[in-house]
Amino acid sequence: MELTGSHILSISQFDRATIDRIFDVADSMAPYAARQKVTRVLEGAILGNMFFEPSTRTRVSFGCAFNLLGGNVRETTGFETSAIAKGESLYDTARVLSGYSDVICMRHPESGSVAEFAEASRVPVINGGDGPNEHPSQALLDLYTIRRELAGKSRGIDGLRIAMIGDLKYGRTVHSLAKLLSLYENLQLVFVSPKELAMPESIIELMRERNHSVTVTDELTESIKNVDIVYSTRIQEERFTSKDEADLYRGRFRLNQAIYTQFCEPNTVIMHPLPRDSRADANELDNDLNQNPNLAIFRQTDNGILVRMALFALVLDVADLVDKYAHDV
Ligand code: CP
Repeated sequence: MELTGSHILSISQFDRATIDRIFDVADSMAPYAARQKVTRVLEGAILGNMFFEPSTRTRVSFGCAFNLLGGNVRETTGFETSAIAKGESLYDTARVLSGYSDVICMRHPESGSVAEFAEASRVPVINGGDGPNEHPSQALLDLYTIRRELAGKSRGIDGLRIAMIGDLKYGRTVHSLAKLLSLYENLQLVFVSPKELAMPESIIELMRERNHSVTVTDELTESIKNVDIVYSTRIQEERFTSKDEADLYRGRFRLNQAIYTQFCEPNTVIMHPLPRDSRADANELDNDLNQNPNLAIFRQTDNGILVRMALFALVLDVADLVDKYAHDV
């Protein structure tokens, strides 16, 4: 896949060679993210960061990643501060804002909306999450994290055993991550959710077509016994018609240190795209796991900077120039 000048809308665009290239560039970004070196390779460039749904990690880390490459960031957050609130179309918004920016990151509550925006954009658009559909940069940082976590155990992605737990119907991160993992070999996937919030059938079929083993269940403790990765997710309350409906499912699958110790293998890595819902009636990933060395959730968020720097560098075709415009701190 050619990344230069491309929109990044769905994991379906990717192949393994492209993923390897992104991860190599992400590795090379470490001294810049750690402030050991400074680069100005994107000096003068502008990121339009447009988030029409709440975000902490994705919005801020895209902005920080662009700043760390020397670029500037302009943000729109929420519909109420945008002319979309006055009835402006995505088409017109894209035509206008792509005249102001070199690349745009966008989050929007409707599936397919970022692709619609990208069709009208004159610059590359990166999907920061379109409703329950996809979150490709999250999947890339998740896979980058899995690769790093397993490398310490002399393991690769092929043959991976992973349990995805929670709201697999509305959770866009698990949709993108499952599609990304499907590119590898001989995976064992366990999809753990309430029956009403199961992984979409199209994704289950994709995994089986690619000869991966898939188990669908609503039972937690048996599912986490023989896996390398436990990937927990939040009930996506914002996708339900009411809080009461979300309450039916909240708190169904709670992982804490006692359950981890009893059922997981000693090295099982614990992941979550965050935010985790820390309210008492939810608490899908308990704070008592915070000192567990296999809890990788904040390594995921740190890795998000590296992967998003790599995406900008590759989409804007400056990956080979980063060091040329660099100096030591
Ligand atoms: N993982 C993730 O998308 O987090 P935010 O909603 O904070 O961006």
